[in-house]
Amino acid sequence: MAEIVLENIVKRFGSLVAVNNLNLDIKDKDFIVLLGPSGCGKTTTLRIISGLEFPDEGKIILDGVDVTKKRAADRDIAFVFQLYALYPHMTAYGNMAFPLKTQRVKKNVIEEEVSRAAELLKIKHILNKKPKELSGGDMQRVALGRALVRRPKAFLLDEPIGTLDAKFREEMRSELKKLHVDIGATTVYVTHDQVEAMSMGDKVVVMNKGLLQQVGTPSEIYHNPINLFVANFIGSPSMNFLKCLPVKDEGGVVSLKIKEVDAIIKIPENIQKTILDEKLVEGELVLGTRPEDVSIEFIECDNYIKTEVYIIETLGTYNIIDLKIGEETVRVRTLPSVMPGIGAPCCVGFDMSRIILFDKKTEKSIL
Ligand SMILES: Nc1ncnc2c1ncn2[C@@H]1O[C@H](COP(=O)(O)OP(=O)(O)OP(=O)(O)O)[C@@H](O)[C@H]1O
Ligand SMILES: [Mg+2]
Repeated sequence: MAEIVLENIVKRFGSLVAVNNLNLDIKDKDFIVLLGPSGCGKTTTLRIISGLEFPDEGKIILDGVDVTKKRAADRDIAFVFQLYALYPHMTAYGNMAFPLKTQRVKKNVIEEEVSRAAELLKIKHILNKKPKELSGGDMQRVALGRALVRRPKAFLLDEPIGTLDAKFREEMRSELKKLHVDIGATTVYVTHDQVEAMSMGDKVVVMNKGLLQQVGTPSEIYHNPINLFVANFIGSPSMNFLKCLPVKDEGGVVSLKIKEVDAIIKIPENIQKTILDEKLVEGELVLGTRPEDVSIEFIECDNYIKTEVYIIETLGTYNIIDLKIGEETVRVRTLPSVMPGIGAPCCVGFDMSRIILFDKKTEKSIL
């Protein structure tokens, strides 16, 4: 088993804070994905967990034992970078056996372990081939096999399938996920691809500029993003954002005034109450809506904003229609049968049970 706890980890490179006070609790058998843009500190975090890099502050606890000062070799954790780094002069078997040979494991045990890993990865038939004779996918499997033979407590995978073409990535994604189910080892997987993160992670850890933004299941991160960064980073096409002001009428009813076009939209009572409780009336907010929670109508409707069709993308299973609200774009996901002409007058409305409001100043979600 492997439970990994990071406590207040700080890592600096000169004046740059690559990881800024990171706390993370990774349970045994979890499949955790570290997600964030380039340079946000994902690889550094992984190297710190593995022992290839030491933090300036904080602790790493592995199964209840403080391993902060232990070297990588003493941590029982396998670190797989992009999966191509095989020794070209060795066969697949040689590559997989290598970590055990260096540990002076007995020959018959090595054979057993390689065979077990090859079975799991379905690569028994290629064990005597050299890397240049292998396809990209098989090379990935051999590299994974090399990590598997050590029976590590945990796997750390750094963008392992980042360089593959789209179709093959999809295939490897499901294979890696299946492998995790089969062997049940704690896995920390790094990617900057949000689709990969959402499809693979039991939990996703979103980072930006060395700071942890949010930890949650893919659904939590998607439906309840904690701030504008997470909301914007997750989802494709991404969330729509409109600047607005909450205004209160004489009767005490709070509505949202969309700044770009001076339109007023009504909001449910529970949201009005939050705005009043948080004293946000007349404070600038950002209204966030997912394209699938926006609707387009071609007759006038109550609580809709008038606009016109700007552009339409037909994507097969659905269409994405872009509408302009002042200078801002609102993207709507529709059925493929909705095919209005460019410039067609229409109205746009939001599913009020699904909207998210952010405080423009703090960028935090208030709902
Ligand atoms: N050895 C180093 N020396 C100096 N700066 C470093 C070093 N390693 C990483 N950094 C810096 O620390 C920050 C975090 O780097 P890191 O490699 O962890 O990012 P990342 O999230 O893995 O990015 P990517 O998606 O591009 O791989 C970056 O600004 C990077 O330039
Ligand atoms: Mg990296």
